[in-house]
Amino acid sequence: MFSSKISGLGSYVPENVVTNDDLAKLMDTNDAWIQERTGIKERRHIKKGDGNSTSIMGVKAAIIALERAQLEPKDIELIVFATLSPDMYFPGGGVQVQDLMGMPTVPALDVRNQCSGFIYALSVADQFVKTGMYRHVLVIGSENHSGGLDFTDRGRGVSVIFGDGAGAAVVSRNEGGKGGILSTHLHSEGKHKDELALQGPSTNYWVPQIIKENPQENIPYYPYMNGQFVFKHAVVRFSEVINEGLQANKLSVDDIDMLIPHQANLRIAQFIQHKFKLPDDKVFNNIQKYGNTTAASIPIALTEAWEEGKIKPGDLVVLAAFGSGFTWGSAIIEWV
Ligand code: UT7
Repeated sequence: MFSSKISGLGSYVPENVVTNDDLAKLMDTNDAWIQERTGIKERRHIKKGDGNSTSIMGVKAAIIALERAQLEPKDIELIVFATLSPDMYFPGGGVQVQDLMGMPTVPALDVRNQCSGFIYALSVADQFVKTGMYRHVLVIGSENHSGGLDFTDRGRGVSVIFGDGAGAAVVSRNEGGKGGILSTHLHSEGKHKDELALQGPSTNYWVPQIIKENPQENIPYYPYMNGQFVFKHAVVRFSEVINEGLQANKLSVDDIDMLIPHQANLRIAQFIQHKFKLPDDKVFNNIQKYGNTTAASIPIALTEAWEEGKIKPGDLVVLAAFGSGFTWGSAIIEWV
């Protein structure tokens, strides 16, 4: 078995800033409600004509990550691309990254695990590097939420929360052998699949049937979220999976130098912080600026924390996520 590490990080968000007041012009919402319930002040949305898409934002983040890892696209042996908002129904975003970055015919794998997509993707990369099959794997989380949200009163419970953006990490063999990605821990509970979901268009519910069965004003091709139900499960699962990761490595909460939770809701992150009695400087949040960017949220936050000098070699970094599926997971990393 080899050791693995994150050798480079990058992120990209579209320039277009959408404030809570901007959304209040489109639907019955307001800045006070959004900030109080979620902590979000603004988010980024792709603007028509700005040239962005899920895969293109992923490439922009990946270019930065590769540069920081001092690697060329030709050095990457596998792409793992996590998103719930792909440019196309199929094929996935990974093959588009392979093409856009002019990579040789490397394998490209898409991960469909929504908010925990990055942790799942990181875990896949980690296994390929640890077994020795690949030396460098490119992991991307990218989302174009604004392309598929309902910006009317009907969608306000969901649409104010989500934002666009991408983050990328290069997972490489850790030649030093010490530290790096210590372990990842993954879970799912499909019985709750309908609590946070986009039902169609899908092969089970294709376009003509949707149109036939629903009045024009209620076509269900927007995401649905049972917010309070998701919230209650999130706080439990976040805690469990962080503890699981710590215990697997014989570590305790006191060993954590930086916790980066998936940016679902500032109130969820604060609940976890208080539960684990972590001081403010040991938890990184940026949902205030970007909203919930699903598979992109952890790599964007991890990149910003690293850029701000908040993660240093030797630090114990804990990543944790929960979301649609339900799926959840954690990663325990000794930064090298
Ligand atoms: O990332 C994947 C995982 N996702 C999550 O973890 C999200 C978990 N859930 C949440 O973050 C929260 O449940 C929300 C932020 C989605 C909602 O907050 P909440 O405190 O659970 O509010 P609620 O859904 O219970 O709604 C409270 C009220 C309702 O009005 P009534 O019935 O009390 O009159 C809603 O209709 O707020 C209303 N409401 C809004 N008001 C203004 C819902 N959305 C909005 C809005 N603006 N955007």
